[in-house]
Amino acid sequence: MVSYKEIQASNALINDATAPRVAVFVGGTSGIGKLTVRALAATGASVRIYLVGRKSSEERMHAFIQELHAINPKAEVIWTEGEVALLAETKRVCEAIKSKESRVDLLFLTAGYAPFGIRRETAEGLEITQSLEYYSRMLFVLHLLPLLGKAEAPKVVSVLAGGMEWATIDLDDLDLKKPGNFGVVNARKHYAAMNTTTLEKLANDNPNVTFIHSCPGWVNTGNVRRGLDPNSIMGWFVWLILEPLIGLFSFSDEESGQRHLFQSTNAAFGGRGVLWKGKPGINSLEKPADGLFLVNYKCDCTPNAKVISLLREKALGKIWDHTQEVLRPYL
Ligand SMILES: NC(=O)c1ccc[n+]([C@@H]2O[C@H](COP(=O)([O-])OP(=O)(O)OC[C@H]3O[C@@H](n4cnc5c(N)ncnc54)[C@H](OP(=O)(O)O)[C@@H]3O)[C@@H](O)[C@H]2O)c1
Repeated sequence: MVSYKEIQASNALINDATAPRVAVFVGGTSGIGKLTVRALAATGASVRIYLVGRKSSEERMHAFIQELHAINPKAEVIWTEGEVALLAETKRVCEAIKSKESRVDLLFLTAGYAPFGIRRETAEGLEITQSLEYYSRMLFVLHLLPLLGKAEAPKVVSVLAGGMEWATIDLDDLDLKKPGNFGVVNARKHYAAMNTTTLEKLANDNPNVTFIHSCPGWVNTGNVRRGLDPNSIMGWFVWLILEPLIGLFSFSDEESGQRHLFQSTNAAFGGRGVLWKGKPGINSLEKPADGLFLVNYKCDCTPNAKVISLLREKALGKIWDHTQEVLRPYL
């Protein structure tokens, strides 16, 4: 476990020279993304933050952006409206960022929610949480990779379930369309495995960029109830039992934000960023080198080696081919 003191000490070293100068937050309008934006602004460093979110959150964000400017007058926050559950919208947002920036230092991806309830699709025919937690995230990465390649210590952080992958996924129904296949457990398994396998491939192809698939632990953001009808039995269960439990065992908002800022900036993962004097992190190939890091809520690397090697051997090819097929029209 990386202690909270070590995390705070590392984050205290973030300054104009070490901060991600251009950071794109997709999901920074609530929860862990928002907490990490706040932690980044609180460093006082000169940063430009693209805050990508849907129209319905825009008004709420005015107050947040004012708060960020009050914390750090050197932080420039650019509200970027987009319905990122839609891949066409994701592409439009990426084009807008690409037209303004020549580099991106940090891409921080948190959009999504616990896939409780029934399967619901976007207008593009994808299950909503799969689009938010996988397809749209990978599309952001693919579009912004050339800009990430221009940064000195570029990082991509996808917050979902790194290290919690299972090998038993249905390779013939990656989008869980077959009757009875969609459910919270299956969806979590699929989206976690798809994140890790694709991010590992992208990490191998782009050794100049550090990739992290983070498992945040429990953070009391309301995420578990987002997909639920509050009047359903499950809605009541989550409200009465699960959320109070999460509240009891979760990290404080402050610590979660600081831990994710640490992951986004520290050289423990891949050697680039704020100096790290401790043991170097181990990537998904179990090496203290570049690549993809599966990082848990304690900021430890959890390579989940047996499962990942099975996924690499048996699933990666199919996942990658299928992903390319889905994303091709939006590249
Ligand atoms: N919190 C936890 O304990 C926990 C544990 C394990 C994994 N995770 C996963 O980690 C990620 C981040 O979690 P979090 O707790 O920070 O989530 P969160 O607070 O619920 O925030 C998620 C983000 O997703 C956006 N979003 C939700 N539904 C959307 C939709 N239909 N279209 C567009 N954007 C949408 C939200 O936008 P708005 O602000 O506009 O609503 C928000 O920016 C999620 O994928 C979550 O499933 C969380």
